[in-house]
Amino acid sequence: MLELKQAVRDADLVILATPEYNAGLPGVLKNAVDWVSRPPRPNAWEGRPVAVMGATPGGFGTALAQLQLRSALAHVGALVMPLPRFGVSQAHRAFAEDGSLADPATAERLERFLGSAATWAARLAG
Ligand SMILES: Cc1cc2nc3c(=O)[nH]c(=O)nc-3n(C[C@H](O)[C@H](O)[C@H](O)COP(=O)(O)O)c2cc1C
Repeated sequence: MLELKQAVRDADLVILATPEYNAGLPGVLKNAVDWVSRPPRPNAWEGRPVAVMGATPGGFGTALAQLQLRSALAHVGALVMPLPRFGVSQAHRAFAEDGSLADPATAERLERFLGSAATWAARLAG
C-alpha cells in the first residue's frame, strides 16, 4: 500500500479502470482509494489529475460504478476529468481472445479519452 501511495504521489496522471459490482463500485477499489488517502497529511490524492474508465459484459458500461468512484475521489481531493466519459459495455464482444481491443469504434473512443486525459493532466500541471 505504501508503494501504491507513492506511485499516486509521483504520477502526472492516474487512470483508474473499474468493473461494476451490483450497480456500484467494487469494495476493493474503494478500499484502495481510502488507503491511499491516509494519513491525510499529505493525502496523495489531493490535487492529483485522475481519469476514470470501466468495462463490463453488462449493458451500462460501468456508469454507476464510475459515479461512485468519482464521488469517492472528489471527497479526497482528486481532480477527476469531467468529460469525456469512457465505458465499455458488452466487453466480451469488444476484446479479442488475446485481450487486445478488437472493436474499432471502441478503440477510437479510447484514443480520444486518453488524449483528453493527457490534456487534462497538462492543464493541471500548469
Ligand atoms: C458480484 C458481482 C456483481 C456484478 N454486478 C454487475 C453490475 O451490476 N453491472 C455490470 O455491468 N456488471 C456487473 N458485474 C460484472 C463486472 O462488472 C465485471 O465485468 C466482471 O466481474 C469482471 O471483472 P472482475 O474480474 O474485476 O470482477 C458483476 C460482477 C460481480 C462479480
